Amino acid sequence: VEWTEQERTIITSIFSSLDYEDIGPKALSRCLIVYPWTQRYFGAFGNLYNAEAIKTNPNIAAHGVKVLHGLDRAVKNMDNIKATYAELSVLHSEKLHVDPDNFKLLSDCLTIVIAAKMGSGFTPEIQATWQKFLAVVVSALGRQYH
Ligand code: HEM
Repeated sequence: VEWTEQERTIITSIFSSLDYEDIGPKALSRCLIVYPWTQRYFGAFGNLYNAEAIKTNPNIAAHGVKVLHGLDRAVKNMDNIKATYAELSVLHSEKLHVDPDNFKLLSDCLTIVIAAKMGSGFTPEIQATWQKFLAVVVSALGRQYH
């Protein structure tokens, strides 16, 4: 994957202004509410009984932050995203058995939460770069599935 200087700047600037503690929990809880079958992987996380329970579940919130920190790695290794996620891909496939279709669902929820936060600042040009970034991440996370 090739990145222009402008694309690099856009991705770096989105992440530098990202409030992980706000966006991470919102993105993960939205995914669990909108696509309830994704809850099956979080059986050990306590009460996911309804939308309110999911949104106020501290384990979900903490994991949402962790997922965003997982994306940090891609930002820091934009020229090597595939290798960067080899280990996480193995974890999600062989240990967690997460269906790789779910990576796309979570990344769409993250996009919606970021768009809501950025408002009109989330222009089509910025979105185009953002979608490209997430597509590369999703593809890398799905690499070790066989
Ligand atoms: C664990 C990142 C998508 C389910 C993790 C961890 C990271 C991570 C960094 C912690 C790994 C560790 O402890 O070494 C990501 C990223 C994703 C993604 C960057 C995509 C953008 C998903 C999806 C699901 C999922 C879509 C399920 C629907 C899990 C589960 C764990 C985990 C169940 C283990 C949680 C625990 O028991 O503590 N993920 N993940 N992940 N992930 Fe993901």
